[in-house]
Amino acid sequence: MRVNEETVLVGEKVVLVPYRPEHVPKYHSWMQDEELRRLTASEPLSLKEEYEMQQKWQLDEDKLTFIILSKLESADLSAGELVPPSDSRIALLPMVGDVNVFLHGTRQFLKEGHQVKEDHDMVNDEQDDFEAEVEIMVAEPAHRRHGLAYEALQLMLGYATGTPELFNDERHYSSPLRLPSRSLMTKITESNVPSINLFKKLGFKITKTVPVFEEVEMRWRDDLSQQYDSPDANTNHIYESCLLIPCWRQKH
Ligand SMILES: CC(C)(COP(=O)(O)OP(=O)(O)OC[C@H]1O[C@@H](n2cnc3c(N)ncnc32)[C@H](O)[C@@H]1OP(=O)(O)O)[C@@H](O)C(=O)NCCC(=O)NCCS
Repeated sequence: MRVNEETVLVGEKVVLVPYRPEHVPKYHSWMQDEELRRLTASEPLSLKEEYEMQQKWQLDEDKLTFIILSKLESADLSAGELVPPSDSRIALLPMVGDVNVFLHGTRQFLKEGHQVKEDHDMVNDEQDDFEAEVEIMVAEPAHRRHGLAYEALQLMLGYATGTPELFNDERHYSSPLRLPSRSLMTKITESNVPSINLFKKLGFKITKTVPVFEEVEMRWRDDLSQQYDSPDANTNHIYESCLLIPCWRQKH
C-alpha cells in the first residue's frame, strides 16, 4: 500500500518500517522454514517470486504491510519519534518479523481512495462485508516472548484504525486509513495457542471455528459475551466460499 511507504512507527520495543526490497532476502530465508509456513499458512516462494510479492504488497491498495525491527538492544530511537525509513539508526536494528492488514470487501471508503469518513466506527450495518484481516509473525524464536508481537500489533492497529486507546495504547499518531475497529479479524490455526492468546490480549474474541481448515476466526469486539471465548463453546460454522481460503499468501 502506498499510504505507508514513508511511514515509520517507533515504539518502546519495536520499530515498524515499510516492507522494502532490502528486506526480501531475510524474509525469504525465514520462509524456508516449514513450521513457519505452516503457522502462517504460507506457500513456498522462490526468491524471485518473493521480490515480486514485495512489489505487489507495496502497490496494492488492499495490503498494509510493515516489517518489525527489534529495538530492545538500542535506546537510540525514542518511542513516538518521527523518522524517515532512511534514518541511519534504523538500518542497525535487527529485522524480526512482519505485521500485515489485508482489506477485503466493498466498504465505501475503499472506493473513495481511503478518504477519511466521519462514520469510521459505524459498522453496525450487517450488510457491510468489509473486513480487515490481521496477520503477524515474529520469525526468529530468540526474539519471541519479549512482548514484540504485542507492541507491533498495538502500533499497527492504532495506526490502521486511528483508535490506539482501544488496544491499550496511550500514544497517538495520525491514521490515514481509519479502519473501523469492528472490521478487524484474524484467522489462526486452532492449535496455535501463542497466537490465539496474543490476539485475546488485544481484545479479539473467537467468533467462529472452522473444523475443515482446523482454524479459528477471531474478531476485535468490545461487546461479545464470554460464550465465544472458547472454541469448544462455539457453534461450528463452515466457510462456504473460496473467499475464506485460510492462507493469505495464497490469496494473490
Ligand atoms: C505468535 C507470535 C507472533 C507471538 O510473538 P511474541 O513476540 O512471542 O509474543 P509476545 O511476546 O508479544 O506475547 C504477547 C502475548 O501473546 C501470548 N503468547 C505469546 N507467546 C506465547 C506462548 N508461547 N504461549 C502462550 N501464550 C503466548 C501471551 O498472551 C503473551 O502475553 P504475556 O507475555 O502477558 O503472557 C510468535 O510466536 C510467532 O510469530 N509465531 C510463529 C508465527 C505465527 O504463529 N504467527 C501467527 C499466525 S496467525
